[in-house]
Amino acid sequence: MKGVILAGGGGSRLYPVTKVVNKHLIPVGDKPMIIHAVEKLVEAGLPEILIVGSGDSLGDIVKLLGSGKEFSCKLSYRVQDEPNGIAKALEAAEDFADNEPLVVLLGDNIFQDSLKEYVEEFKKEAQGATVFLKDVPDPSRYGIAEVNRDKIVSIEEKPQNPRASYCVTGIYMYDNKVFEIIKKLKPSARGEYEISDVNMVYLKRGELSHKILKGWWVDAGTFDSLREAIQLVSGEKDR
Ligand code: DAU
Repeated sequence: MKGVILAGGGGSRLYPVTKVVNKHLIPVGDKPMIIHAVEKLVEAGLPEILIVGSGDSLGDIVKLLGSGKEFSCKLSYRVQDEPNGIAKALEAAEDFADNEPLVVLLGDNIFQDSLKEYVEEFKKEAQGATVFLKDVPDPSRYGIAEVNRDKIVSIEEKPQNPRASYCVTGIYMYDNKVFEIIKKLKPSARGEYEISDVNMVYLKRGELSHKILKGWWVDAGTFDSLREAIQLVSGEKDR
């Protein structure tokens, strides 16, 4: 099993900071955002990691992380030519995956749980997909899963009138069918290839499992949540 970190996209919600600095290089506590994701994958026993980034920022990410030796991992890099969605960024990982299952992290997700035991569990079957949920106070910001009798029954990307409050966090596990699914996707109304649509295909096939995160989790993509992430990683706040 291998790891993928998606670090493309524009970072418009952190403008003007992201006008010159890529979102994933902004400090969260004592290290740039993306290092948190690298460390999570290494700790989970996944030292082979691909980082997907935009053409204009990948050079800086390589400058920061290098070969990965400093983090006890082996890093590879791929460019996503345009910020046309999380699913398209993941498609760039097809050769790297080489038919192995993947753990995929969105580079702006900062969280407390260890993924180690979930990785061990997924490796045994290596079938379908697993998403990680967290109850959130502001569901219209995220992909939201409706859970009934311990099963996900629907996923809606940024619902205007949310029926539930379980966010589908940016932590995903996929078998190698994910690329065949991505290739058949159509862009959403906002013009992006949505990871929620990928997860919906697994759901319809009856191949989507979920776990509920026990510790804190933050999508650090806005100023408020970035501030919260900094407090959480620095231990200044509990949640
Ligand atoms: O954080 C969890 C949420 O992340 C999920 O609940 C949503 O279902 C999912 O769509 C996503 O929503 P966001 O609005 O937060 O996505 P954002 O555009 O901020 O992108 C999140 C990360 O994905 C970002 O740190 C880099 C990566 N990304 C994004 C895009 C659009 C790429 O690598 N390429 C892209 O084209």
